[in-house]
Amino acid sequence: MATKKKAKKTKPAAKKTTAKKAVVKKAAAKKSAAKKPAARKAASKKVVKAAAKKPAPKKAAAKANGNGHAFPAPSTAPWGQAGKALEGVRILDFTHVQSGPTCTQLLAYMGADCIKIERPGVGDITRTQLRDVKGQDSLYFTMLNGNKRSITIDSKNKKGIEILERLVKTCDVLVENFAPGALDRMGLTFERVHELNPRMIYASVKGFGPGPYEDCKVYENIAQCAGGSASTTGFRDGPPLVTGAQIGDSGTGLHLALGIVTALYQRNRTGRGQRVLCAMQDGVLNLCRVKLRDQQRLKHGPLTEYSQFGEGIPFGQATPRAGNDSGGGQPAWLLKCKGWETDPDAYIYFITQAPVWAEICDLIGKPEWKTDPDYATPPARLPRLRHIFDTIEQWTMTKDKFEVMDICNKFDIPVGPILSMKEIAEEESLRATGTVVEVDHPGRGKYLTVGNPVKLFDSPCEVKRSPLLGEHTEEILTQVLGYTDAEVAEIKTSGAITPPEKPARAEAA
Ligand code: COA
Repeated sequence: MATKKKAKKTKPAAKKTTAKKAVVKKAAAKKSAAKKPAARKAASKKVVKAAAKKPAPKKAAAKANGNGHAFPAPSTAPWGQAGKALEGVRILDFTHVQSGPTCTQLLAYMGADCIKIERPGVGDITRTQLRDVKGQDSLYFTMLNGNKRSITIDSKNKKGIEILERLVKTCDVLVENFAPGALDRMGLTFERVHELNPRMIYASVKGFGPGPYEDCKVYENIAQCAGGSASTTGFRDGPPLVTGAQIGDSGTGLHLALGIVTALYQRNRTGRGQRVLCAMQDGVLNLCRVKLRDQQRLKHGPLTEYSQFGEGIPFGQATPRAGNDSGGGQPAWLLKCKGWETDPDAYIYFITQAPVWAEICDLIGKPEWKTDPDYATPPARLPRLRHIFDTIEQWTMTKDKFEVMDICNKFDIPVGPILSMKEIAEEESLRATGTVVEVDHPGRGKYLTVGNPVKLFDSPCEVKRSPLLGEHTEEILTQVLGYTDAEVAEIKTSGAITPPEKPARAEAA
């Protein structure tokens, strides 16, 4: 990792050794104490004695925390100027479409050097999918591949595989989301990669985990269906629905990013990489766990907070679709606001949180509900939710969604306006925080992208445009992999980084 250089600068070798020794000593003491419980007291006495004999140097660069791990002295650099969180981590990004690229873009936002491998002349298929500007990389691609470098390598070319293996040796993480078996067919099995680089973290997204469907190709909505989301989304009297949030693709990419940084952390201790696998079905289910909660609650009676209960409709065997009911313990619903007849987004989500029930009653002109036994307590309200929300809606329809929000916020009543993508794109506060960012692209001009939704206060994120296909091929070959100019010239004619040559025409021969 490139950070090693920096770390060496701020951490003199002698200090490092002292810290290491301290940790080893402590660990050894712990070990012997654990082995011989009777000797525990003696061991701890010894440690105390040793500590008393040799007081810790005043200017210790590294200290041991409660777990006995060493860590450097806190940086004195101003906040945000101590390097990026993942600086020095190099990623061999073999991802495509959405799930994998979401993961690697996040890691790149956090400061990792992300090298995207693309097929010569073709690239990630999303470069040309859903194109809005003729001949230019699509927003589908550009919004998922910011802050990365692109190198073209034909992984089925002999020289191409040689380059890839050289990259394996210099990277910390390999991320891929090919169909099951594709990477093995390239010769990059986990075993081979681990042999080339035992420190490599080998991270994959697949549709399903081991089991009957492990060989299946999977896209977003398949994962939403197989992970329990679709069966629990929509209205009771309608078919299952998929959601707009890409919980299968982007959601799994997020899970994978967590797996990768966790494996990097473990590698600090063990020195070796490991496999990380996120199945899209698992990722969706993880995000749907409240619905599995409700599935189990069904055994003990009806789900009283579902409006279905108040409407007297019996529950079946499985968690039903609940429309816009709240997923939690505070009943809620989506209500019309002023202008709903013409504006499809003139709605507000209204939560009747119990502690502010009195304020809600006053606001909507029903002060008598505060003491009426049919409305005064949460259990009494459950069978009447439909009537309650119809009544609140009579009030919200007299105001626009932002007015409702302003008024309710004054009384701590939790509500949320339905924001259209247009409103989000224009929202100044999201621009100010770097959540929505405008980037300039040499081919397509300015476009909006979503910046880092995770704000690290000592690792600010600078969002950069996505790379052109193969934009950094030569730079990576020479600067990262150390190929000489002569070798690069040879590579150029090998077909490893360029599309296969079309057969020469007869007249040219
Ligand atoms: N050079 C040469 N060949 C390359 C290459 C390169 N740089 N990069 C990829 N390829 C080849 C692969 O080796 C593979 O070839 P093979 O099948 O002959 O071995 C081929 O391109 C395509 O890979 P595949 O993953 O099968 O792509 P696909 O377009 O058919 O399927 C998915 C797309 C998304 C369905 C599939 O990749 C998948 O199920 N991925 C796992 C789940 C996932 O992430 N889904 C969500 C995507 S958002």
